[in-house]
Amino acid sequence: MATPATAAKDSDFVAQLEAANLHPLWDRFRKLTPVKPQAKDPPFLWRWKDIERFTGRAVSEVPIDDVERRALILVNPAFGGETVTTNNLIAAFTVLDPGDRARPHRHTFAAIRFATKADGAATIVNGRRCEMKSGDLILTPPMCWHGHINESDHRIIWFDAANIPLLRTLDANFFEPGDAKANDFWQVDDGDEKLWGEAGLVGADIDHARAHSPKYRYSGEATRRLLSSLPAGPDGARTVRYTNPATGGAVMPALDCYAARLPDGQTTRPKRTTCNMICLVVSGQGRSTVGEHSFDWSQNDVFSIPHWNFASHQAKGGDADLFIVSDRSAFERLDLLREELQ
Ligand SMILES: [Fe+2]
Repeated sequence: MATPATAAKDSDFVAQLEAANLHPLWDRFRKLTPVKPQAKDPPFLWRWKDIERFTGRAVSEVPIDDVERRALILVNPAFGGETVTTNNLIAAFTVLDPGDRARPHRHTFAAIRFATKADGAATIVNGRRCEMKSGDLILTPPMCWHGHINESDHRIIWFDAANIPLLRTLDANFFEPGDAKANDFWQVDDGDEKLWGEAGLVGADIDHARAHSPKYRYSGEATRRLLSSLPAGPDGARTVRYTNPATGGAVMPALDCYAARLPDGQTTRPKRTTCNMICLVVSGQGRSTVGEHSFDWSQNDVFSIPHWNFASHQAKGGDADLFIVSDRSAFERLDLLREELQ
């Protein structure tokens, strides 16, 4: 054990090291290498009723032609004012009025859209028109050109998520604006999306070497159909993973999506994982316990499950469906994925 004299000498030594741009490992290794992950953010719930009241103002006060995207991002104040929903991820809601077009662009961060109330909207991804019917998931993988259009006669709203905070940490973001006036960008049909629309069937001579899924639209109808046929998993929920049909793996290398049906009245077994998750309540209502926090939720509410927090869920008054977006595939690729079920 250090005596006061040696401790003082050590602190003088440390000060001299620091002045020479050297750090001793011995006085800070516990901070540098904690025994387990420690999420900066507590779990957080964003209620739809608190978000919805701003959607009308966003449309009336922010012309779509003046902005890249008209999205309201869900932020956890634990990140000290940074635009972060939970570690590595952001979630948002986008609002488009009839005739609005969110101009084409592309970037290295990965993004998804989940259609909450978007019938009549379309996302164009790499020259393919992807309809946005209720519960549809649309991928906009890294460096794929994409734009959005509302061709209906009503306001549409969808849920977005992206791994912008991860790309900021890595300082790996590239962004290219498209031509806002290029009308031919919008004049497309579903194109090559047809190649990936038949479950279990893949063109034998279709080459797809990209790291992300070649399929961009996952229909809500198909998801709901599978959720109702699946048996419950070990945690008690029926869970679907959205996959890349060419590999069977996650849809994108650093963004990984799931749908879960929670059975009425049953509490799922608490589960924790090293990855981060954001849950959108697609239908139903219930209650979740994440770490030390419990909260009630209903349709279109969003909550976060920061990494290494045990989370369990209970649907009330009927089954409930969640859409879950995570950075799980990034952890898989880094061989850092750990999961525990209580
Ligand atoms: Fe984008």
